[in-house]
Amino acid sequence: MSRIVVVSNRVPVPSGNAGQAGGLAVALLGLMERRGGLWFGWSGAVTDSRAPGQIDEPTLAQRGSIGYATVDLTEAEHRGYYAGYANGVLWPMLHAMPHLMAFRRADLDTYREVNERFGKVLAPLLRDDDRIWVHDYHLLSLPAALRKRGVGNPTGFFLHVPFPDADSAMAAPGMRHLVRDVLGSDLLGFQTIADRDHFAEAATQFAGATRHDEQHLLVEDRRVRLGVFPAEIDAAEFAATAEAQSRTEPVRRLARSLGGQSLLIGVDRMDPTKGLPERLEAYRRLVARLPERGGVTLLQIAAPSREDVAAYRRLRRELHEAAGALNSGLGEPDWTPLRLVARTVNRDTVAGYMRLARVGVVTPLRDGMNLVAKEYIAAQDPVDPGVLVLSRFAGAAAQLDSALLVNPYDATETSEAMQRAVSMPLEERRERWKAGWAAIAATSPERWGETFLNELAMMEPAGTA
Ligand code: ADP
Ligand code: G6P
Repeated sequence: MSRIVVVSNRVPVPSGNAGQAGGLAVALLGLMERRGGLWFGWSGAVTDSRAPGQIDEPTLAQRGSIGYATVDLTEAEHRGYYAGYANGVLWPMLHAMPHLMAFRRADLDTYREVNERFGKVLAPLLRDDDRIWVHDYHLLSLPAALRKRGVGNPTGFFLHVPFPDADSAMAAPGMRHLVRDVLGSDLLGFQTIADRDHFAEAATQFAGATRHDEQHLLVEDRRVRLGVFPAEIDAAEFAATAEAQSRTEPVRRLARSLGGQSLLIGVDRMDPTKGLPERLEAYRRLVARLPERGGVTLLQIAAPSREDVAAYRRLRRELHEAAGALNSGLGEPDWTPLRLVARTVNRDTVAGYMRLARVGVVTPLRDGMNLVAKEYIAAQDPVDPGVLVLSRFAGAAAQLDSALLVNPYDATETSEAMQRAVSMPLEERRERWKAGWAAIAATSPERWGETFLNELAMMEPAGTA
């Protein structure tokens, strides 16, 4: 079996901050732990202390069957590539939030330079029979950078985030180049059919590709395959964790503190795409409408994220203000309607909390997949399951249509769905949960990866038409 080489900006390196939240790391760690291989990317460290030659020396580490090769970013690279272009332009644009874009030409240049540098450091680590799998919007230029260095290995690319319609995508300056660069891959994977088709539209309208059929683009003399591979969790494992955690002290303490109230739970990175202020507004309306105070509690766990990007700092302030206003306006001396925990919480403990919650509230304004939605379903007790309130604009909604689907921009609709979820009869809860479980149970991150990698293995080398 050939080795797989996974490349992603975020790498959960053994020595680093393993508590970092994020769907990409969760999906890939599940795959790599079982399959093994080389994982290449950013170390998570920002430095200017290393000499110019040294910064291109990767740091190597081994944990079980996973080999890690990582590089530090300089402060200027971190500012321009990660905070500036990837998260200040691409992330909001790909999530259809162009008003949050903050573009500087120099950041685009740095983005492309860092992609070049990743290619330069990675190329000498590659073996002839490696299959390369590049991940996410930080590394759109890497497939072209590798080809330029003569790397002919089969190369796949997976976009964890959505891809909007072609005109919206082109609002991000530089996008035309990046679409061309990522077309250096043999196989391109997306979370949903809509994302795939939007990308194909951009590639044909703006990057000179021709759509050969649903699953292939022709790019000059090469054939590039397009596929849909929804990211998955290990549902059985998460269910077992949730069950085991429900007997631990932190989860029991939370249960005791509720004193019979119905718990609603939200678990997110603190990100403008997650619809957190909108969610609090929907919850405020639910609380204001309750015939008597005190029957519900919302636990919102929100891990601070990307705080070097202005939009994220603004969100943090806005959220804290909204939370304060909600509790002071609607709380009682003996009841606080909202508990906001602005931290990363251990994922196993989160599983236990989810099992305790009558309602899972997953209401992003836009999301590539949203693994939290799948985790909430997995965590439930099948005998007495809770209800998922899910945004229509999360990739997960395509698979979890048994959830209460809402438009997160509509606070009234969301608050009505919350209320319906809180009071849903057991039989309906069971039925909906069963359908949700059936959608997530038969697969895993490993299967997700194998499906992608098998398709990649079937491609002709270098995608010859
Ligand atoms: P994203 O990739 O945008 O962060 P996902 O929902 O796909 O969103 O994945 C997030 C992952 O990170 C999930 O596995 C979730 O459990 C975890 N996570 C998110 N927020 C937190 C938090 N505050 N504490 C602990 N884990 C979190
Ligand atoms: C999402 C993105 C990932 C990213 C993660 C955490 O899942 O798709 O690429 O790694 O968020 O964000 P961060 O900026 O901390 O890596």
